[in-house]
Amino acid sequence: MMEPDTNSNTASVLIGPFAQLVTMDTLPLKGSLSDGQLTVMEDAGILIEGGTIVETGPFDRLVKEVHSDKVRTVELPAHSIGLPGFVDAHTHSCFAGSRAQDYALRNSGSSYLEIAQAGGGIWDTVEQTRKADPEFLESLLLERIQGFMQSGITTLEVKSGYGLSISEELKMLRVIRSAAEKTAMDLIPTCLAAHTFPRDFKGKPADYLEIIVKELLPILIGERLTTRLDAFVEQSAFSPEEIIPYLRAGKEMGFDLTLHADQFSAGGSDVAISCGAISADHLEASGPKEIQALANSEVIATALPGASLGLGCGFTPARALLDAGACLAIASDYNPGSAPMGDLLTQASILGAFEKLSNAEVLAGITFRAAAALGLSDRGRLVPGQKADIAIFHAKHYNEIPYHQGKLRPSQVVKNGNFILN
Ligand code: NIG
Ligand code: FE
Repeated sequence: MMEPDTNSNTASVLIGPFAQLVTMDTLPLKGSLSDGQLTVMEDAGILIEGGTIVETGPFDRLVKEVHSDKVRTVELPAHSIGLPGFVDAHTHSCFAGSRAQDYALRNSGSSYLEIAQAGGGIWDTVEQTRKADPEFLESLLLERIQGFMQSGITTLEVKSGYGLSISEELKMLRVIRSAAEKTAMDLIPTCLAAHTFPRDFKGKPADYLEIIVKELLPILIGERLTTRLDAFVEQSAFSPEEIIPYLRAGKEMGFDLTLHADQFSAGGSDVAISCGAISADHLEASGPKEIQALANSEVIATALPGASLGLGCGFTPARALLDAGACLAIASDYNPGSAPMGDLLTQASILGAFEKLSNAEVLAGITFRAAAALGLSDRGRLVPGQKADIAIFHAKHYNEIPYHQGKLRPSQVVKNGNFILN
């Protein structure tokens, strides 16, 4: 039986036996994967020290070898399957209010862009988020983080982008940092001040972006609020011509770049490649030319099936991207507008069914490939030296996990070596 957690990050702990441990070891960052390529260890244990994996191997051998007072052994119930903790590399989890009305309008025939142009959409959430005081916003975010942890996510990217002024963007990023201090979840903050042109800004988009560069970005660096910049390249947001100088300036200041690209029309993925972004996210409108260019680049292609489900439109061409040789990450895009479900495992499994992805490709997309989309190489595989972040499921075979399309929830989640579900 599971023992209570001591929550001591420095202690050594041996966890097992895992009926199957799907380590993601040796899998390449880019290109298609077959399930036969997965390393699946049976009756395995994981030895953890100070939150880091020190060894994986046969549980019985590890039990004998580490027989010492200093190592706590946590015995798992039969049929425990271990996977790397999931990484949700694209979310807008810090927001106030609901956009249920947008959803109803879209399902009655209005498009996402029409709603945005009529003053709804992102701007609606900006108004609601600006009204929320930081404590309330933080409590909403922390509640959502709890739900993400229960679904096996151990690293969560969170964007700003519903402030759209210096002070309101700062409010959001400070809320994200304050929440990060109160949760076991690793939060990766991203500044999305270039989410859309703010309706109350007096001037042109270029003036707005210039002010962000001159006034906001230095504060982000000074307060160490984030090292990542995102922008939405689309008709209702910023054009390539408007955004390129912004991205270049941000990169020169040391920010990593990621983009909302090719969601409704192509153009953004080109910008991502030419500006050296780590990832280009969405890509529902990418055609053969964009797919090949992404595959030839180092830019990670992040599919956001939750936005396709929320908007009722086609999925990112994940199969074609993998076949062309791209690195495919999968993220939830959780946000109140286009992707209100916020359920990574469900969405990744559904994307797999529609796009004909192997289980290895689905699981890679939410583990080490998603970590790479955040510039993180210290997690996403269950091998020595990696963070001890583990999603544990009660099942006879790892195939059961995508098969249940998210209905099968983790029985336990380990973050930095600590059991975090009670
Ligand atoms: O990723 N595409 C732009 N941004 C979000 C939607 C945000 C919103 O509608 O509030 C997205 O889909
Ligand atoms: Fe998004």
